[in-house]
Amino acid sequence: MRTQVGIIGAGPAGLLLSHLLHLRGIDSVVLETRTREQIESTIRAGVLEQGTMDLLTEAGVGARMKAEGALHHGFELAFEGKRRRIDLTGLTGHSITVYAQHEVIKDLVAARVAADGALRFGVSETSLHGIDTDKPSIRYRHEGEACELQCDFVIGCDGSQGVSRASIPQALRRDFERVYPFGWFGILCEGPPSSDELIYARHDRGFALISTRSANVQRMYFQCDPKDSVDNWSDDRIWAELHARVDSHDGHHVADGKIFQKNIVGMRSFVSATMQYGRLFLAGDAAHIVPPTGAKGMNLAVADVRLLTKALNAFYVENRMDLLDGYSKTALKRIWRAEHFSYWMTSMMHRIEGASPFEQQLQVAELEYVTTSRSAATVMAENYVGVAVPQD
Ligand code: DHB
Repeated sequence: MRTQVGIIGAGPAGLLLSHLLHLRGIDSVVLETRTREQIESTIRAGVLEQGTMDLLTEAGVGARMKAEGALHHGFELAFEGKRRRIDLTGLTGHSITVYAQHEVIKDLVAARVAADGALRFGVSETSLHGIDTDKPSIRYRHEGEACELQCDFVIGCDGSQGVSRASIPQALRRDFERVYPFGWFGILCEGPPSSDELIYARHDRGFALISTRSANVQRMYFQCDPKDSVDNWSDDRIWAELHARVDSHDGHHVADGKIFQKNIVGMRSFVSATMQYGRLFLAGDAAHIVPPTGAKGMNLAVADVRLLTKALNAFYVENRMDLLDGYSKTALKRIWRAEHFSYWMTSMMHRIEGASPFEQQLQVAELEYVTTSRSAATVMAENYVGVAVPQD
């Protein structure tokens, strides 16, 4: 089988790229190891930057996001028993939408299916061949058969554990990594929102985050030991921890609900430089990971896809290779900005085991600064909404 662009991975990056290419008349095939049900139900973050909303809308998949997502013009930082607002729209002119990543996935899969797009679920034994030539191919097994997909380009959107990044010779690649000694315990619960806006809380017991999914489903997180097990956490213990960390002195408190999902995720920062080799280009988690604080993960994947769409279009329409050649260098500017922001927000908000009282006071001093100085608040806000790096 032959296509123009072979895409490995049906996450937000792979699906969106496939759909944007289709709208430009460029053919692609998406290969995915998991099933459609699995990708449509994996719970991930839920904050979309303005640029992400714009690209989803341009791709024709923004209708449900607009109708069911919640537009937020600010968020709150809770610390030392008080809550202070970061006015995103007032400071930057931009806002964010809270809309779960797996809902974006559902919208994208529906769009690909409606357009008769080639999507192969449940593939295995994927391997890349000839990526340093102009005739690369992908071999894989699907429904018991050995298959080969010949293409002009291979785009690796298969996450941090996928085969794509591992196909770039280690000698040509440099990995940058930081592992954090804590994780996030995430819950979904049925109940009313605790607040009109997201609350990021710093407390001596650890970080907590109050987010939302809808008028009656809420998403919350609290810092935990990444090796802890959800079985150690009864609902009562979870609510006691969230109240202790987030309730403020002015009497505002977290609204309890019926918990129906619990999970723990570890946290790390990771960047692969380079993001390309011959005819292989990486996008999203295959090339970079951020800790979840600030919810940059999917937004970065979408930003990679914006660049790749433009670069592949320039190749097919004008026979230009320059944008593809410069892809990694251009993408890494935004990626490193987001890496720094996610690391900074994580470091300011989390309980660091072994930190001295002096270091703890520095976290509080920094929170005081970003919530009282307009310049410091603007730095926070423009990174949060994603305009700290101009659209590439
Ligand atoms: C959510 C996740 C985040 O990492 C974040 O910073 C904000 C919100 C969420 O899942 O809603």
